[in-house]
Amino acid sequence: MKLTTVIMAMVCLNPAKAIANDLDRELQRYVQMFKYEAIEKPQDVDQNKYVLGKKLFFDKRLSGNRNVSCATCHDPNKGTGDGLPLPVGVTKKTVIPRNSPPLFNLDHYEMGSLFWDGRVSYDDMGETFNTPSRALNGYYPKRMDITEVLGSALAAQAIFPIISHAEMRGMKGTNPIANAKTDEEAWKLLMERLLNIEEIKTLFEKAYPNQRLNIGHLGNALAEFQRTEFASYNTPWDRYLNGELDALSDAEKRGAIAFSTVGRCTQCHDGALLGGRVFANIASPQIGPGKDLVNNDEGRFYVTRRNSSRYQFRTPPLRNVALTAPYFHSGVYESLEEVIDHYTKGVDAIDEFDSRWLSKFENSVYGQRLFVETNPYKLFKKKENAHPLMRNKMIRLTSQEKKDLIEFLRVGLTDPRFKN
Ligand code: HEC
Ligand code: HEC
Repeated sequence: MKLTTVIMAMVCLNPAKAIANDLDRELQRYVQMFKYEAIEKPQDVDQNKYVLGKKLFFDKRLSGNRNVSCATCHDPNKGTGDGLPLPVGVTKKTVIPRNSPPLFNLDHYEMGSLFWDGRVSYDDMGETFNTPSRALNGYYPKRMDITEVLGSALAAQAIFPIISHAEMRGMKGTNPIANAKTDEEAWKLLMERLLNIEEIKTLFEKAYPNQRLNIGHLGNALAEFQRTEFASYNTPWDRYLNGELDALSDAEKRGAIAFSTVGRCTQCHDGALLGGRVFANIASPQIGPGKDLVNNDEGRFYVTRRNSSRYQFRTPPLRNVALTAPYFHSGVYESLEEVIDHYTKGVDAIDEFDSRWLSKFENSVYGQRLFVETNPYKLFKKKENAHPLMRNKMIRLTSQEKKDLIEFLRVGLTDPRFKN
């Protein structure tokens, strides 16, 4: 038999394969159109910095009262989160206002900024930082000795949880780092504490020989660890983008197509990371203490102070999203199904939000009721300012499209390395 005949016979005998080819052709068009890209394996890992960073990431002595580590809220066995709607901080009573985000691929060059509101960033030229600390910002920062060694937004981010009283520093009156008058003083005291621990001192000196050590080195090492350990480049989607056409099932391919077309997900979840660049108000429900005194969280507005930024949050990247529930900046949804329903309901979703599922955490984890925003005036303000796709309820999906979309998110975007 000639080769063409063999192929014809195969196609006739195996219709699924033929459909897969059509799906591939269609999906390839969107890959080109939207510049979807596979994530690359991290390069040039500095082993000494990685080892130091790993030690620091899991060490509770980074917190004022030695009771919280980075891993408390970013547990590698829980998709680098904590599995909670909102994290618990230095005491059981301290509910942190925002959901612990996952730490995958955060040093990717398309990751414009860090935190739900993007308050930490490093400009494109790699020259100036934008952070909550004035001493680090601009062309001639007061603490250039620190910014010089940071080297990335991911490194700069790492020196902020340790000066947050609720997250790691501890409440005033409970330890000297918490009592420090300024953030710079707290950083200095923490470094003194760590360099007094022989094992940690040795690791620092190995990673940064002959340098005057400051908190910037701690940030730099934590970033080296995170960018290496939490690099996720082996999802079926990445393998597909690298040319392995059977890495995705037909359902996942149809899901990726729905993501790019009827779902309109790509309008915000774009680029290689499927997120990280666009800020948007999608009218997500608000629970917990919030960022101001009235349980509110206006997100990006706190950074830009522009009215148009009110209630905007940074679009999260989506690798391993199946492992990182609950979802959204205040952790209001338990499943991907609920997230998709949120989008198809448009702004009505916020009125229809069902908070009953939170009760299981209220007793066992927080020991208190969580505030749930239901004030019609406040909800109205948020809906009024929401993205047009949400305001005009423009995301419409059939039940088959929903199923496929979830299959793409759940299986196609999950890296087997992080499934426990
Ligand atoms: C008490 C819980 C808690 C602890 C401890 C904690 N984090 Fe976080 N982390 C969070 C929360 C909540 C956010 C989001 C805050 C926001 O956006 O305002 C966050 C954000 C981040 C981000 C930005 C993620 C993104 O998508 O932009 C990184 C990176 C990060 N944390 C790393 C660390 C490191 C490193 C440590 C240890 C030095 C640490 N975290 C300690 C809860 C915690
Ligand atoms: C208008 C911009 C926009 C569109 C369109 C959009 N998203 Fe989002 N997405 C966001 C923003 C912003 C958030 C974070 C919202 C928040 O925290 O309050 C988010 C959050 C998510 C999350 C939760 C991730 C996490 O870690 O908490 C998932 C999953 C998600 N989107 C999937 C989708 C899918 C699937 C579609 C298409 C049906 C879609 N998104 C369409 C902007 C968008």
